[in-house]
Amino acid sequence: MKKIICKTYNEMSWKAADIVITAVKEKPGLVLGLPTGTTPIGMYDALANAYKDGFVNFSRVATFNLDEYVGLTPDHPQSYRYFMDKHLFGRVNIKPKNTHVPDGAAADLGAAARNYDALIEKSGGIDLFVVGIGQNGHIGFNEPAASMPAFTHVVELTQNTIEANSRLFNGMSEVPLKAVTQGMATILRAKKILLLASGESKRAALEKMESGIITLDCPATLLNLHRDVTALLS
Ligand code: PGA
Repeated sequence: MKKIICKTYNEMSWKAADIVITAVKEKPGLVLGLPTGTTPIGMYDALANAYKDGFVNFSRVATFNLDEYVGLTPDHPQSYRYFMDKHLFGRVNIKPKNTHVPDGAAADLGAAARNYDALIEKSGGIDLFVVGIGQNGHIGFNEPAASMPAFTHVVELTQNTIEANSRLFNGMSEVPLKAVTQGMATILRAKKILLLASGESKRAALEKMESGIITLDCPATLLNLHRDVTALLS
């Protein structure tokens, strides 16, 4: 795993955007895996600015987001589809039909999850996957657990995640208890992975990941199985 330590959050964000832009230049039809959360907002701002200034063209790019809350429709301000439209998709020339976020409001969540994986396969697989990391070491919503499904699935959120994410809702009782997430196998099939992490609250999870010991108690440790991971830290 390659580790790049940045002095500031802005530097990390610009470096992340630069890696994405370089990848799009090399392959205009790039298939990108994307995260939500506070961490990638600076990268999305940098990508939107680069697009505005004519440095990058998203017209052939396709995206597959990591996860979505169960029960939230795309028009819900806390849904991850809403987040992506606001922070990236609505600000660049990506074609809406090429943007994919798991459907947390599907009548048959299991079938929707299987279709999501099939769509990723059909697109040729994810070239570059940008991921964040939870305080508990989750990647996407792959929460610490004794076992976990390998591919896209419905998951019950842990108390730690519900508490961490409640800052974005009107209190903890409004945070959905379940989510749909790409599985660790789905994520590890990406050709390249770029992990973004900022701040003290992520330190313990990062230390576990960097120890090189693999444990489902800290799903981020599974990234050690991949041969092309860059961790951009600030
Ligand atoms: P954050 O979330 O960027 O809001 O810290 C990351 C995550 O939980 O994966």
